[in-house]
Amino acid sequence: MADIGLVGLGVMGANLALNMAEKGNTVAVFNRTAAKTDAFMAHAGPLAPRLVPTKSLPDLAAAISDPKPVVLMVTAGPAVDQEAEVLAGVMKPGDIIIDCGNANFHDTRRREAEFKAKGIDFLGVGVSGGEEGARHGPSIMAGGDPKAWARVEKIFNAIAAKFDGEPCAALCGPDGAGHFVKTIHNGIEYADMQMIGEVYGVMRDGLGLTAPQMAEIFAHWNEGPLKSYLIEITSKVLGVIDEKTGKPIVDIILDTAGQKGTGRWSAMEAQDLGVPATVIEAAVAARALSSQKAERVAQEKLFGAAPRKFDTSLNHEAILKALEGALLGGKIVAYAQGFAVMAKASETYGWSLPLGTIAKIWRAGCIIRSVFLDDISKAYATSGSAANLMDIEPFTGLLKANNESLRLIVAEALLKGIPMPALSSALAYFDLSRTARSTADLTQAQRDFFGAHGFERLDAPGVVSHGPWAMGPG
Ligand code: 6PG
Repeated sequence: MADIGLVGLGVMGANLALNMAEKGNTVAVFNRTAAKTDAFMAHAGPLAPRLVPTKSLPDLAAAISDPKPVVLMVTAGPAVDQEAEVLAGVMKPGDIIIDCGNANFHDTRRREAEFKAKGIDFLGVGVSGGEEGARHGPSIMAGGDPKAWARVEKIFNAIAAKFDGEPCAALCGPDGAGHFVKTIHNGIEYADMQMIGEVYGVMRDGLGLTAPQMAEIFAHWNEGPLKSYLIEITSKVLGVIDEKTGKPIVDIILDTAGQKGTGRWSAMEAQDLGVPATVIEAAVAARALSSQKAERVAQEKLFGAAPRKFDTSLNHEAILKALEGALLGGKIVAYAQGFAVMAKASETYGWSLPLGTIAKIWRAGCIIRSVFLDDISKAYATSGSAANLMDIEPFTGLLKANNESLRLIVAEALLKGIPMPALSSALAYFDLSRTARSTADLTQAQRDFFGAHGFERLDAPGVVSHGPWAMGPG
């Protein structure tokens, strides 16, 4: 009998199934298009004896020993409801449906409650790391009933990436907690990628560097505090030459980036929770703007191209050093925002999200994996539930040391018309966060003027006052 079932043999599902089989599990598999199952089995090589192909969901369920855990790796949305519904029909209490897709956590909350009412456990599990991660070790963010997780934890720990021998898999909280954490992971992924893109823009358009030159700079940065998977692949991407044209491949790639939705959900949830996640929001908006290629071409004609080139009198070495610092400063702010969104969601949904553990399971396997996340996990281990990463060492010290680099780069880039949506948002957030006397006195006065919303006086805290607006002219 199989230890676990898996539905959906797309790239992620197929690789997860192979990973589970490789770790000693017998895996029953099913795909709606039977030809895909046949192709999967034909390519399973030495793992084939641990894979059981099945022709229907009832067959799949029948092939698994009780209690049956079944992983769904199908397109997020209605397909999950359809497959889960059929599965539940052939399942018994104690069996578990495990949705490993990029589901919206609101759907996961609903599904968890619906299936619980039928006696079936439903785990919502975020899996990060792409194709390679799924095959050799992803980061796994689970949500659901602890008793259900305990029944499958061993399997997921075995397939997860390891950091210092520790599996990058954890139960983050009940119901939709795991998919929420994966959503915020993707929001941070968007922010990281956008900030790297902005720094690339300064190097390419401000400093006139070639892709191979930039590849070397990113490779060098990957030996310092920015060391991460995304910096590593940026260096690799910039170093690749297109066979057809002999040009760096980035130079012939159309400048529009797609998005499947998790980054946008991340920004929307932040807004809903009332937590500013301005860097993530800026990154999502930048992706949307990137897709408006025709409009951008037309507007460059209408308004003229920005000068973009940095003054030649500026010292390139100093700018490159500042760029590294700017990226680190922006990254601290982006992560502080992402973690603040999780802290608020934890409170709102009663999840008790373990922020330190989340940082730990992001240290390997996932797309945002980095040494920086090891620092975050250590910081949370000593500071507990501190609200803002910016207030915790070593990040406070790093921000003190790098915010001027962020300022210098943003200022210089803006003067030359190089877009900096994410990095400038990070700087604005930092500046707003450390402004004891903001300009919201005027906003509140305006609210009181037109809506009688009242305000507190500095000299009478807690007392709602109104302004003498009616006495003014008009
Ligand atoms: C991951 C990735 C993964 C996927 C996203 C990309 O953590 O492994 O984030 O989930 O690549 O779907 O999202 P976009 O298509 O929105 O860029």
